[in-house]
Amino acid sequence: MIHPHITTAALAPVDAGDLVVLIGAGGSGKSTLLRTVPAHEIVSLDALRALVSEPGDQTATIDAVLLQTQILTMRLRRGKTTYLDNSSTEPHHRAQLVELGHQHGRRVIAAWVDAPLPVCLARNSARPAERRVPEDVLRHQHRMARAARELLDGEGFDEIRHHRTGH
Ligand SMILES: Nc1ncnc2c1ncn2[C@@H]1O[C@H](COP(=O)(O)OP(=O)(O)OP(=O)(O)O)[C@@H](O)[C@H]1O
Ligand SMILES: [Mg+2]
Repeated sequence: MIHPHITTAALAPVDAGDLVVLIGAGGSGKSTLLRTVPAHEIVSLDALRALVSEPGDQTATIDAVLLQTQILTMRLRRGKTTYLDNSSTEPHHRAQLVELGHQHGRRVIAAWVDAPLPVCLARNSARPAERRVPEDVLRHQHRMARAARELLDGEGFDEIRHHRTGH
């Protein structure tokens, strides 16, 4: 079912201050899609984990999440457009982001990025070890991302966009 608020141009212009939440498994093409976005508008747990520790250090996630919330809050308060480049495949993570954006009177856009599982797995295994997601985690992310396709409609996003790669 296609809803009127669903658009397919994932990176079509957004309003100043919007929060764009990417949703997709590792290797689905989120960061690639964001290549044309100014780097300072992109926030990701990967980058924040690297800042507080080193690339790929999953034990830094709690600190990275704290920082992420602070950074998002400050940018939303200032009305600075922000693209969140995490997998965001878990519904409770998306719920927190929708709530945070709306608390600041901002629109929150879901950008659902999809690629077939074999494509994600192949892209993942071609990466350097510290950037590779364990295969069982990737399979789980992919299942959750596909499930999100149906769930997004009921999650309070102001707009839902779709982007497919590798099909
Ligand atoms: N549309 C595309 N066509 C061809 N290759 C692509 C496309 N999108 C992404 N890729 C390739 O797939 C790999 C993974 O893409 P990308 O890094 O964007 O995934 P990601 O969703 O950001 O993953 P992660 O969640 O692990 O950061 C990259 O090597 C990229 O070059
Ligand atoms: Mg990425």
